Amino acid sequence: MELKIKDIIIAFDGHSSCGKSTVAKAVAKQIGFTYIDSGAMYRVVTLLAMRKKLIEGKDINISTLKEVIESLTISFKYNKEGIQETYMNNENVEAEIRSIEVSNLVSYISELDFVREKLVFLQQAMGSNKRIVMDGRDIGTVVFPKAELKIFMTASPKVRAQRRYDEMIAKGDKVSFEEVLANVEKRDYIDQNREISPLKKAEDAVVLDNSYLSREEQLTWVMDILKEKFSL
Ligand code: DC
Repeated sequence: MELKIKDIIIAFDGHSSCGKSTVAKAVAKQIGFTYIDSGAMYRVVTLLAMRKKLIEGKDINISTLKEVIESLTISFKYNKEGIQETYMNNENVEAEIRSIEVSNLVSYISELDFVREKLVFLQQAMGSNKRIVMDGRDIGTVVFPKAELKIFMTASPKVRAQRRYDEMIAKGDKVSFEEVLANVEKRDYIDQNREISPLKKAEDAVVLDNSYLSREEQLTWVMDILKEKFSL
């Protein structure tokens, strides 16, 4: 029997800055699902480590970080404009977690087994009632290996760096394109080569290369698959 769309989980995985969250959010809105940005959760742990001075480049105070994340809460709330924002222990940290400082350190935090264990546990709980769209690196492989629809997104490093650079400049950040490109390439390398849950396409994922697709074209692409595979 064909699955009803309300009974599914949609997993988006892929490289950093390839526009996963834009498409994932648009799909969630269109079908009335909850959207969860799992990358934001790794960014929150990184920000916490920075604030508590537990991270200095690759050097991390593991034992203290283990303690402080035990009581950490992460939540998502909509602001007045209907945009989802990330909260760390009930404090809105949406802007801070997107800074270049957090972006530069987040890969070291997301390599840690105890951090992944805690966040995967929280993510699985968020999906216990289905009707969820989650994006990240290991959603279709580790968090929801049985997700009913898995999409693996990618675009060339230059296209992705340009998109993130434009976003940061629009926000008033002072960064160079070279700096952003170097960050994208470094994170690709770490994400794909880390020991635990490296970024890789799940065997049953469909690939969406969006280097030259508009937002509308990407949304249509996903909606067409949904209509084909599930009853609405
Ligand atoms: O999607 P993003 O760029 O905001 O993710 C931030 C970092 O978190 C990224 O460098 C990889 C890591 N991450 C991860 O390891 N697993 C996930 N499910 C999501 C993100």
